[in-house]
Amino acid sequence: GKGGYEHYMLKEIDSQPTSLRNTIKGRISPSGDDVDVDAFDPETLSEFSEVQFVACGTSYHAALYGTTLLNEAGVRARTYRASEYQMASDPVTEETLVVSVTQSGETADTLGAMRRASREGATVLTVTNVMGSSAARAADETVYIHAGPEIGVAATKTFSSQTVTLALLAQRLAAHMSGEREHRDLEPALDALTSLPDDLGRMLEGDDAERIANRFLGSDAYFFIGRGLGYPVAKESALKFKEITYEHAEGFASGELKHGPLALVTPQTPVFAVFTGEHDEKTLKNAKEAQTRGAPIVAVAKEGHPAIEATDAHLPIPDTDPMWSGLLANVQLQLVSYHAANELGRSIDKPRNLAKSVTVE
Ligand code: F6R
Repeated sequence: GKGGYEHYMLKEIDSQPTSLRNTIKGRISPSGDDVDVDAFDPETLSEFSEVQFVACGTSYHAALYGTTLLNEAGVRARTYRASEYQMASDPVTEETLVVSVTQSGETADTLGAMRRASREGATVLTVTNVMGSSAARAADETVYIHAGPEIGVAATKTFSSQTVTLALLAQRLAAHMSGEREHRDLEPALDALTSLPDDLGRMLEGDDAERIANRFLGSDAYFFIGRGLGYPVAKESALKFKEITYEHAEGFASGELKHGPLALVTPQTPVFAVFTGEHDEKTLKNAKEAQTRGAPIVAVAKEGHPAIEATDAHLPIPDTDPMWSGLLANVQLQLVSYHAANELGRSIDKPRNLAKSVTVE
């Protein structure tokens, strides 16, 4: 049941400290320098030269986050929309590891992409939430995100568990696939992971998201911008916002604003800017370009961040490793979408025209 909540979505957002603990449980060695994702004989990992992610919707955004993590860990990776992957002409070989990211494990587009990958000789790994799902049965290897059942049509807690699972996978793959390439050490991020559920719990006690949602209700459109790991968060936040509020929302790479979308910016279009602790000066510069056109800017940033002074509203996130700031920002923005949709009286758990799993191509 809803456990006293009016909507499953809010219950699921609030349950993220627990679902994340379950995702992480038993997967990081006590010394913090090794991870176990219950898949792959380490011997086989060095056979891969490249990772191709296939996914749809929210899972696609989690895969984008994962791609950035893998690339930073020195592993060649890219992300495809599953529906496009089937006709993509990008080479697939025996050295390609195809990773499908699918909460339900039943998404037809994703299953189709997995079939193409298998047909062309790739090894297929699926990252899923559902035991025995079609994706788990079709894949060569399966990694479960252990987020628990998600009832709300809008994916929330599964996005967080997907990104964390992909970070663990990145650490696992990097040890075997990064070769001589220069790369970032993921260990500080894995350390920070152990306190992430508590950070999230503290953040969820605040009412900042509801305040911000009410303040900007009735705007013409809602824009979300971010750079690096903030980019998939901007895309995901806009998807969530449009899904459940039915209002117009778009997510952009901060640097792209001035290449077109700036034409849409007015005093009636708030811009939510995600500050992860990396590339923030550039993001602030991009946010100010929108502010100059009259748009109110909401800085999603840790307390004391320089962007707060320069912008119009602040949505706080706890201080953590830059690898997880995006995850925390995403949860705050899930709450903004939820409260805006609630205020508008929308059908939050079952938005119009949408289904929890999309079993047609
Ligand atoms: C968004 C949402 C959808 C799904 C997409 C993929 O809130 O729920 O965009 O993320 O249909 O579904 P899965 O992950 O089950 O393959």
